[in-house]
Amino acid sequence: MKPKVFVTRRIPEIGLEMLRQDADVELWQEPYPPDYPVLAEKARRVDGLLCMLTDRIDRNLMDSIGPQLKVISQLAVGIDNIDISAATARGIPVGNTPGVLTDTTADLAWSLLMAAARRVVESDRFVRAGKWKTWGPIDFLGLDVTGAILGIVGFGRIGQAMARRARGFDMRTLYFSRRRHPKAEEECRAKYVDLETLLREADFVSLHTNLTEETHHLMNDARLKAMKPGSILINTSRGSVVDSKALHRALTSGTIAYAALDVTEPEPIEPDDPLLTLDNIIVIPHIGSASIKTRNKMATMAAENLIAGLKGERLPNCANPQIYT
Ligand code: DGY
Repeated sequence: MKPKVFVTRRIPEIGLEMLRQDADVELWQEPYPPDYPVLAEKARRVDGLLCMLTDRIDRNLMDSIGPQLKVISQLAVGIDNIDISAATARGIPVGNTPGVLTDTTADLAWSLLMAAARRVVESDRFVRAGKWKTWGPIDFLGLDVTGAILGIVGFGRIGQAMARRARGFDMRTLYFSRRRHPKAEEECRAKYVDLETLLREADFVSLHTNLTEETHHLMNDARLKAMKPGSILINTSRGSVVDSKALHRALTSGTIAYAALDVTEPEPIEPDDPLLTLDNIIVIPHIGSASIKTRNKMATMAAENLIAGLKGERLPNCANPQIYT
């Protein structure tokens, strides 16, 4: 008998086909994620779980699935929705999809940076509202990207990919990270500075940290106030890295000029969230890795991780490799 697997959303077919060869797959077909109790019910007694960043995978869920659970495979690089220490304590390897989405996510972050700098979304809304009556010498003035200073917070793969893009725009790049990356900083021509310096000097601040206790609300009132007047904040990491109420205050008081978010707090953002009433913000629905090629690769990697775990083999991409030592 094939091992049982629950897949919490429809994923690209290429990944499902791989899974079906080795497992008896139950797929959640609905357009919205299963609620926590439904997930617990559906996943009960499975051998493998293929989940998304929209699923809360905590110790209670792992226990309710049962001790036969061999592997959790997430279709994302970020795993802040999974209690990794609980999985590790239970000897369950957790797979993720690092590397394949680096450039796709950096491309999206870059497009947000450009769109915010030049007020692209706002001016599109203006045209659609029938307000475009003439060319205006002082209309929709934005920030130049070329030659500006980019501040990157979090200098992992995606942060570094942003720095490489900045070189093409003759930007000066500053970065702040938990640790220095001497080789990458030389390669990307980025300078390590403390966070205060970065916020004070950068015209654009782009967030690329994981969400941890340390980075939760990293961008709070004080840090938003510390940003250069007229600067722009871009977030493609996790919504809760920014205190959204503080961001609203910063955008309405003019502390910063603009924000562009691919991720929000909460996610999805409530339709009546005050942030959505502002003109100086772009909000898009967490599409950083959403290219056809990248999502196919992510589905393949997630399937490979799951299959390896079902076979008791080491996961090709394991977020808690300590379980093997
Ligand atoms: C991730 O992988 O963590 C992104 O947020 C979604 O692709």
